[in-house]
Amino acid sequence: MGEPYSKAETLALRRKHIGPSCKVFFAKDPLKIVRAQGQYMFDENGEKYLDCINNVAHVGHSHPYVIKAATKQMELLNTNSRFLHDNLVQYAQRLTATLPEKLSVCYFVNSGSEANDLALRLARQYRGHQDVITLENAYHGHVTSLIDISPYKFNQLEKDSKKEFVHVAPSPDIYRGKYREDHPDPASAYAEEVKKIIEETQKNGRKIAAFIAESMQSCGGQVIPPVGYFQKAAEYVHAAGGVFIADEVQVGFGRVGKHFWAFQLQGEDFVPDIVTMGKPIGNGHPMSCVVTTREIAEAFGASGLEYFNTFGGNPVSCAIGMAVLEVIEKEDLQGNATRVGNYLLELLTEQKQKHPLVGDIRGVGLFVGVDLVKDQQKRTPATAEALQLIYKLKEQQILLSADGPHRNILKFKPPMCFTMEDAKHVVDKIDVLLTEMEVATGMKTGNDASTNAQCERKTNEGNSQPESVNESISHINGAACRQENGFYSDKRSVSSKRLRT
Ligand SMILES: Cc1ncc(COP(=O)(O)O)c(C=O)c1O
Repeated sequence: MGEPYSKAETLALRRKHIGPSCKVFFAKDPLKIVRAQGQYMFDENGEKYLDCINNVAHVGHSHPYVIKAATKQMELLNTNSRFLHDNLVQYAQRLTATLPEKLSVCYFVNSGSEANDLALRLARQYRGHQDVITLENAYHGHVTSLIDISPYKFNQLEKDSKKEFVHVAPSPDIYRGKYREDHPDPASAYAEEVKKIIEETQKNGRKIAAFIAESMQSCGGQVIPPVGYFQKAAEYVHAAGGVFIADEVQVGFGRVGKHFWAFQLQGEDFVPDIVTMGKPIGNGHPMSCVVTTREIAEAFGASGLEYFNTFGGNPVSCAIGMAVLEVIEKEDLQGNATRVGNYLLELLTEQKQKHPLVGDIRGVGLFVGVDLVKDQQKRTPATAEALQLIYKLKEQQILLSADGPHRNILKFKPPMCFTMEDAKHVVDKIDVLLTEMEVATGMKTGNDASTNAQCERKTNEGNSQPESVNESISHINGAACRQENGFYSDKRSVSSKRLRT
């Protein structure tokens, strides 16, 4: 329909001209998307897909306010940051106003990878140290310096791909990690692991430049670190002369609802030394940022080397960045993330009670993970089932992904305009599909399934007016779930034994 090529031709041309390691979603039958609006994407036939995964289109695909800001500035001027321009300083002012006071100096760059690469340079220049502590399963970007510190990637290469200056700390995952929800103080236990690494490193005459962590691990499996972990880890890292880099590329800009930055979930007493931003910052426009303290910035400048970035901080990007911040505020997208996120968690928790395939539900705001398992006790990852579910959802015109080290975690990170109705729609579909899969594999009998169907009808009746769900959320949370500091985790199936899969 008005496209230059049929879908088959597009695919053939892509195979011919685009590098084979650039993968498509749904490789068996890729989607050709030609336009998008809000939380919906449309294919070449006008078919509408509910987008549950696109955290880049943060304030909604093709948001008119952002488009207007971009075109208005493009008509006037776009150039590099060697000229004075008010957009640059105004945007820096507005962006730093969302952060704790000491994070006051910005470097504007063009992608999450550029931001993290620069953050490493800042950290290494600061004290002249080289080594980096990163988390198990972490992904921080695609350039060489970041593949080096991304176990999610370098573990797929040949054995011994880890560089000697890289040290991997356990992921602070209280469902699958080394210290679980039954541990009395997982935050301290995970921080002690960081301390041990530092001590070991120092024994070998090496020095820590940085500890880098996503404020919540996304590719690493939708992991929400226990409160207090960052403070303690930062204390050890600082004592070793290193800095704490919080990677907010996936999870920043109000996605967690209650706070603008996900690291703030750790509490007001925690402030990273460097924060990196990307994806949602420009709502699809390629831009990103590193924010740090005056002290670290001065140390970086002391080398005498100019930092020049052709596109970073150009007037168009800054206009777009400002527009995104304004939309988040005007449309109360943080409030929406909290309301819809809580509702989504609530609906998913009902699924956990019904489906043996659902092992854990975790999330905060519009960042939610569903950990699929073959065995609730052993927590064996249900990798094939997750993939099957993703494909079946696609047939139902719902876009969801499966990620984590075992690719078994359904990953919700939709545009922030996601609604209660969207949440209900996708969970209803997941319910039906899980039932079908469980019956087919013998995890559930046909009788169980009909009980589920009744249960589902009841739930539907109860929630026929999504706006009224807040009451039921607080009731159910109060009865059976834990909601601390904006975190949400269902503890009903917690085993008293520590289990490893
Ligand atoms: C946590 C995190 N950091 C950094 C990056 C790299 O960002 P980009 O792909 O924009 O270079 C990504 C990309 O997925 C990411 O998830």
